[in-house]
Amino acid sequence: MPRRRHSTPRPALYLAGALACALACSSRPGPEERAPAPQRTPTSAGEPAPDPAAAAPSETKERADPLSFARPDEVVVRELDLRLDVLFAKKIIAGVATYRIERTSPSAPLLLDTRDLVIEGVEASARPPAGIAESWAPTTFTLGEVDPLLGAALTVNLPDRTDRVRVRYRTSDGASGLHWLTPAQTSGDAPFLYSQSQAIHARSWVPSQDSPAVRIPVRATVTVDRALRPVMAANDDGVSAEGGRPHYSFSIDKPIPAYLLAIAVGDLDKRELGPRTAVWAEPAVLPRAAEELAELESMLPAIEGDFGPYRWGRYEVLILPPSFPFGGMENPIVTFATPTILAGDRSLISLIAHELAHSWSGNLVTNATWDDLWLNEGPTTYLERRIIEELYGRERAEMEATLGKALLLETIADLPEEQQLLRSGVRGQDPDAVFSDIAYEKGALFLRTLEETYGRDTFDPFLRAWFDEHAFTGQNTAAFVDFAQARLLDVATPLPGKVAPDLNRWIYGPGLPEDAPEPSAAGFAAVEADAEAWLAGELKSSALAKTWGPLHWLHFLGQLPPDLAAARLAELDKHHHLTASDNRELLAAWLEVAVRRRYRAVDDRLRWFLTTIGRRKFLTPLYLALLEADGGGERARSIYEAARSTYHPIARESLDPLLVPPRGTPIQ
Ligand code: BES
Ligand code: ZN
Repeated sequence: MPRRRHSTPRPALYLAGALACALACSSRPGPEERAPAPQRTPTSAGEPAPDPAAAAPSETKERADPLSFARPDEVVVRELDLRLDVLFAKKIIAGVATYRIERTSPSAPLLLDTRDLVIEGVEASARPPAGIAESWAPTTFTLGEVDPLLGAALTVNLPDRTDRVRVRYRTSDGASGLHWLTPAQTSGDAPFLYSQSQAIHARSWVPSQDSPAVRIPVRATVTVDRALRPVMAANDDGVSAEGGRPHYSFSIDKPIPAYLLAIAVGDLDKRELGPRTAVWAEPAVLPRAAEELAELESMLPAIEGDFGPYRWGRYEVLILPPSFPFGGMENPIVTFATPTILAGDRSLISLIAHELAHSWSGNLVTNATWDDLWLNEGPTTYLERRIIEELYGRERAEMEATLGKALLLETIADLPEEQQLLRSGVRGQDPDAVFSDIAYEKGALFLRTLEETYGRDTFDPFLRAWFDEHAFTGQNTAAFVDFAQARLLDVATPLPGKVAPDLNRWIYGPGLPEDAPEPSAAGFAAVEADAEAWLAGELKSSALAKTWGPLHWLHFLGQLPPDLAAARLAELDKHHHLTASDNRELLAAWLEVAVRRRYRAVDDRLRWFLTTIGRRKFLTPLYLALLEADGGGERARSIYEAARSTYHPIARESLDPLLVPPRGTPIQ
């Protein structure tokens, strides 16, 4: 399912783009990535990414991550051991993080990223001679000046021969990566905590080398001050009862970047779905969740066949309460997902296909920096549709791709050119602010172009080799271009009638190349014909949608002109009960269509939606629609005032600029 962004172009979008830019463009300057050569030689093709710890000094500058203070080229963390005490009473986590480090620069300190952490003490230990017990001693450290985007660098001075460091810390109330929920925000009567670390929020709950190119195996032990169940994105190593309180153990041996660190704590139960799969949810949600995800086990072979084995052991999905600001998050082994996918008819399952696909593009081969986000999301969106095609057929995959492309074209029309590139020339922008469909849908179309040019027989092994040969590394855009050039363009012959695509045009150019793929679904052609007839008054509302599912409806709503009379929406609603729809994706699209055309019968449902669901993809277009439809935006502000405290910090940060008047502005 594509991210629905906006269904009609409108001027205020530019405002959103401008706001994004105001935040992002003020970000820190960073070293420029080497400019792409028009024709690349295949020198680096197929080689594993340089290990950040082993990078030569001259390369170091170019590979540095502008969003991390860490200097893994000097001192790199190789293992992380976490003790986390989750204290609902204070809404903090008290943690002890132990790092095994490797030092390439003997005099350099260990640099860790932090944000709003209270550092209580730091100790160092040197590898003891055989037979002698390890001993820890306090070491000196400094917490640097706070950068609004990056947080503060924790600099740990390392005595000679130090190979382990231990940091005792506490999170703070406003930790950007944690969301503490009251029981009222859950489906039961217990509070709930979940983390969202991507992109640069892990540092707000774990001091870390928070750059996607730095990967580490992790062990963790979690205790909680309530009788609630912690789940981490790792293997479940069981529970023990040291000193009365249960200690839950987790581990992940495969090295992961910090942005994939994840924890949830709540009244959580698990239901097995197959030999490798299971679903977690609060008890009231679990039966529905298990029903919706009944096909989870079959998704794994649907992608493994063409793109290589699933390398993470188990695959589980944890359904979060509705305030989760995203649709899904590909936390390893345990995907975190919004409950808004529980439509009752499995129609929104592509979101899970997407998160599963990240087990290859993203979790296995990771973007080296957040400027290369498209390298995670583009191939993932492409693979998501391949899974859907395998499981449900070409027509459904094409419907989803068509919706995705339509949204992409709207995004392109709304964004300034410099934000339409897969890989921007500006480094180190705030990933939360520059988030758009570009990385996803343009990235997916780029891969599809390669597929259509060379055919699946050639393209699939190419993509599989990209994953296999770069497994467990971070890669940048230039590396992908090199690899595609050497392993596809230089060696494969385009299918008859096709020409090799211009890689640089796709990646560093705005908009879409003219010969971009055109997904097409027969069912959608029929929807378009019906929409035209209905708009012309030649087809009754009651005669519409006899065989439609939610995707057809989404496409239909996208055909409605901006000036359609509210009375016509009332007609649709009367026959098809759209305001009452249980499908959150369809409901959100319908509400936006309704608000923009001032169909006021949706008002109560809209308020309910905005005060219950915290998924940013739904909130932003709905609030924008309200702001624009109402002139003064009073309704939008009143709903926001009621809902704001229930939203995740990431959602608040996106919406505040739209809905909270700057200090000193009189409220109208
Ligand atoms: N990894 C993303 C979510 C994300 C991206 C979080 C960037 C923070 C920064 C996840 O895989 C994702 O793309 N989720 C989508 C759903 C998907 C079906 C497109 C979402 O949340 O809407
Ligand atoms: Zn994704």
